Amino acid sequence: MAAHRTQNILIFGATGLIGEFIIDAILASKGKEFSRIGIFTSNNTLWTKSDEIDRLKARGVEVLSGNLASADAVSEAYNGFDTVVSCVGRPIIHHQVQLIELADKHPDVKKFFPSEYGTDIEYGPSSANEKPHQQKLKVRAALKATKDLEYTYVVTGPYGDADRGLFLSARPPEDEAGGTFDVKRKRAVLLGDGNGRISLTTMRDVGKLVVAALLHPEEAKNRALRVNSFTTTPKDIVAEFEKQTGGQSWSVDFTPLSQLKQLEQQAWERGDAHAGTLTLRRIWSEGGTLYEKRDNALIGMEDSVDSLQDAVKRAIEVQSKAT
Ligand SMILES: NC(=O)c1ccc[n+]([C@@H]2O[C@H](COP(=O)([O-])OP(=O)(O)OC[C@H]3O[C@@H](n4cnc5c(N)ncnc54)[C@H](OP(=O)(O)O)[C@@H]3O)[C@@H](O)[C@H]2O)c1
Repeated sequence: MAAHRTQNILIFGATGLIGEFIIDAILASKGKEFSRIGIFTSNNTLWTKSDEIDRLKARGVEVLSGNLASADAVSEAYNGFDTVVSCVGRPIIHHQVQLIELADKHPDVKKFFPSEYGTDIEYGPSSANEKPHQQKLKVRAALKATKDLEYTYVVTGPYGDADRGLFLSARPPEDEAGGTFDVKRKRAVLLGDGNGRISLTTMRDVGKLVVAALLHPEEAKNRALRVNSFTTTPKDIVAEFEKQTGGQSWSVDFTPLSQLKQLEQQAWERGDAHAGTLTLRRIWSEGGTLYEKRDNALIGMEDSVDSLQDAVKRAIEVQSKAT
């Protein structure tokens, strides 16, 4: 059967870290490619992020609110939407199983993009045992078990940005062994020997790549799309930071993979909230973002993505604003 063409999109988690970029890119295509754009959000967010909600309404977004765990509220919200794009945060990833079952039963919903936008959770045989992947693996299993629902996993690898502890952010000195690019201190701690290749995707590109996937329904149907902005090495990243911050050398140290594994294990043993992040950084440092060929070309995105230079420029801006 031919893949379904997306027209009306309902987004969950639209005011979150990556949701903001995804809805922004979707709204840029509203009118040209898409008709109705709606968000389903919590009543709490209506109050706590009222300015953001008002901005979305002013751009023509329909705002539906309620409890995402309520089957009735979600089924009613689905009316008239053919595609669901979920950007929910990690703590509620498992709620998507019910969202998927309800979408499968609903006559209007034809397609579901689960909240992925990160590490490839089916990269290789060891992926099945990685702790941070378990909830997302259950969500994929729920999608595979549906009768009529098309799905796409947009796999982007780590974000090439400096917000909220992301790969190009500055971590506090006491946590820097987990990797840091600190503009203020001109200081970097690189994971591994600094020469390991890694693919990153800027959050701005995540939004564009999701839209490209929506606009290429046949190519994106029922599969993972492994996409990214650029492939680089930690040493090349720090060299770019040095170039864009006046040319002086930064102070650079390394956390070898064996030490990173130890830190990861200790963090899990202590029940540290950052243990999952260390696991993901270890997976990326082991090459878990690398492919013979990425899927950008399949959805017309081989050339129109950010470069390392773009990402570092933006990271410097973000870090400067934060200080
Ligand atoms: N590749 C990377 O480097 C990277 C980094 C971070 C995240 N990610 C991935 O991106 C996806 C979205 O993560 P995010 O960081 O953008 O999400 P987030 O900002 O933490 O949350 C997104 C939205 O989820 C909804 N939500 C409701 N209850 C929540 C709860 N208890 N905890 C968290 N969120 C809740 C909220 O939407 P409403 O307010 O509208 O209800 C919230 O705005 C995840 O799959 C995550 O794994 C990838």
